[in-house]
This record gives sequence, structure tokens and C-alpha cells, in this order.
Amino acid sequence: MLAAAAMCATTDPAAGLDSVLAGLHVGEWPEPDPRPGWTTIRVRAAGVNHHDLWTLRGVGIPQERLPVVLGAEAAGTDEDGCEVIVYPVIGDPYAGGGDETLDPACAYLSVDHDGTFAERVAVPAHCVVPKPPELSWTEAACLPGAWLTAYRMLFERAGLEPGATVLVQGAGGGVSSALVILGAAAGHRMWVTGRDPGRRARAVRLGADRAFEPGAQLPDRVDAVMETVGAATWEHSLKSLRPGGRVVVAGATSGALAQVDLARVFYLQLSVVGSTMGTRDQLARLAAFCVRTGVRPVVDRTLALADAATALGELARGTVFGKVVLEP
Ligand SMILES: NC(=O)c1ccc[n+]([C@@H]2O[C@H](COP(=O)([O-])OP(=O)(O)OC[C@H]3O[C@@H](n4cnc5c(N)ncnc54)[C@H](OP(=O)(O)O)[C@@H]3O)[C@@H](O)[C@H]2O)c1
Repeated sequence: MLAAAAMCATTDPAAGLDSVLAGLHVGEWPEPDPRPGWTTIRVRAAGVNHHDLWTLRGVGIPQERLPVVLGAEAAGTDEDGCEVIVYPVIGDPYAGGGDETLDPACAYLSVDHDGTFAERVAVPAHCVVPKPPELSWTEAACLPGAWLTAYRMLFERAGLEPGATVLVQGAGGGVSSALVILGAAAGHRMWVTGRDPGRRARAVRLGADRAFEPGAQLPDRVDAVMETVGAATWEHSLKSLRPGGRVVVAGATSGALAQVDLARVFYLQLSVVGSTMGTRDQLARLAAFCVRTGVRPVVDRTLALADAATALGELARGTVFGKVVLEP
């Protein structure tokens, strides 16, 4: 048996936070079944994501998959003692035209298979990349979800040239803080919006050129907008783009249904581009980028696995800046 934090019951997606967290069980869990081609990772640190909250709310997970161990991010040691970062997407790159996230049969840790909020997690042997020694366990555990998503949004999906101006909606989220740090390190001019003055100031200290209140008129139109907030910021995102600009959307924390001014989209020839996670190769390049540039994830706090409910509660209340990491 091992210790794990698992979701055992779905709740009404609109339920209050206390009843959502009541679906979480932290306790003993069966060891992963040995399977050919899979390896068991001893988890040293596991990043917490908004995705874990969605799962707890019953969004994106079929009832028949429950109970399931939460957690899509981890760093740990493999069966040979090698230090690795877990890649949570289980897909065939060939079936996805060279991109495993586009494999129609692609599966995810914490949805289709038990996740990383556990002392040990089983993954296909190819679903790891070496952890650079320069990164701590907690830093490495933040890369496979939020940071990989930010990396792909900025460096693949946004189609930006060096020196571009980029607006990030949301100042202190796991993905938004990664976008600011990565974009600034790559030489882009990063602008952010944030609801709280303290969080806006912190984003500037991380490398944002300027920080604005949500919905503020910007000094100039931007080349691209990075969207993970959704309905609350969508209209502002489209209005902030220069003609020919691009909004890259990877999340919708405040709601996924938003009105679109189609005339603005075609008249200004805007592009709306979706983005989800990244490839295993991109995860390896992201780790190398961190080593070369010296940038690191912002870890708000590290908690014990037993405190998983506290971690998820803080994330839901919006009091976390950057990432929360669990240590089994
Ligand atoms: N497609 C993918 O592969 C992928 C990967 C990772 C995450 N996501 C999604 O992206 C979203 C963010 O994930 P995360 O882990 O970064 O979450 P998080 O750490 O909880 O961050 C939430 C962010 O949303 C902003 N926000 C929340 N509600 C808002 C509102 N009503 N108005 C304005 N801003 C609001 C916050 O900005 P403030 O700084 O102003 O508080 C913060 O930046 C989630 O919906 C998640 O499911 C998708």
C-alpha cells in the first residue's frame, strides 16, 4: 500500500468549495499494478494545478473512472534511481502526426490513469525526461503541466517574433506566472492583467514590463494575448490585439462560454488558436531552457501530501501566487 490523494466522488460542478473538497480522500492506496513497458516512479514532489480542481468538480472525468488519484505533475526517481520529470500525456506521436497530444486516443495521468499525488506513480517508460541537477525537486515538479502549457502557448502556438508585445490575462496563476517569466526571458515585452495590486506588482518583479487592472485600455495594441481566464477577460483579449494578432487560449477558469465579436475577428484578421499541454520533446527543451536562462518556477508553498485539501482549497480561493507543490 502507498499514501495517495484520490478523488472518490463527483460533486455538482456548481457545488460549494467545502463539498467539492469533501470528494477528496487522502489515505492508503493500492500499489500500481506492474505492466509491460511501464515503470514506477517514486514521487519526490508533485505540482498542484487548477486541473485537479476541475477533476474534483467532476469536469472532464467520466464517473466510471472514479476513484482516481489526482495530480498531473511530478518529479521523482525511476526504478534505476535516475532523477526524472514525469510527462503526463500518454499518446502515440505517430498517431498524432508527430505530436502525442493530437493522438485521438491520447490519455492523461489523473484522468485515465492514477496520477501523481501519491508516493509512487506508474507511467509508460517513455513518459519521463531526465531532471537536470540544477533544478530542485519542487521546481522540476512544476514543469510538466503549467509550465509546459505556457511554453507551447508562447513558443509554438503564438507565432511570435523576438521583441513582440504579449498580454497575459491573470497575474499570479500557475500558467500566467510561467508565461511572464518565460516570455521575459525570451526577450518579449510582457504585459499582464491582474485583479489584485499586490499580485500585479509581483508579476512586474518577475519580469512583466507593465501590469494593468482587468479590462484596462492598454497603451498600445499587442501582437498576441495569452488566455487562460476565459469569459471574464475574453472581450478585453480580442480588443487588445493589433490587426493580424493572435489570441492563444489554453483555459477558461472564469467560464468557457463567451460572446465573440465576429466582425472584429474577420475585419482585423485575428486568429484564435487553442493550445493544450505540449510534447515530451518540448518538456525536455523547457527543462533545458530553465537551466540555460536561469529562470525557475515560482513556488508559493510546499505542503505535505496529507495537506492536499489545503493546497486545492487555497488554489480555488485564488490566494496562491505561482505554484503549490506537494511532497509525499
Ligand atoms: N489546456 C491545457 O493544457 C491547460 C494546462 C494548464 C492549465 N489549464 C487551464 O488554465 C487555467 C489556469 O490554470 P492554472 O493552473 O494556472 O490556475 P491558477 O493557478 O488557479 O490560476 C488562475 C488564474 O486565473 C486568473 N483568474 C481567475 N479567475 C479570474 C477572474 N474571474 N477574472 C480574472 N482573472 C481570473 C487568476 O488571476 P489573478 O492573478 O488576477 O488572480 C490566475 O492568474 C485553468 O482553467 C486550467 O484548467 C489548461
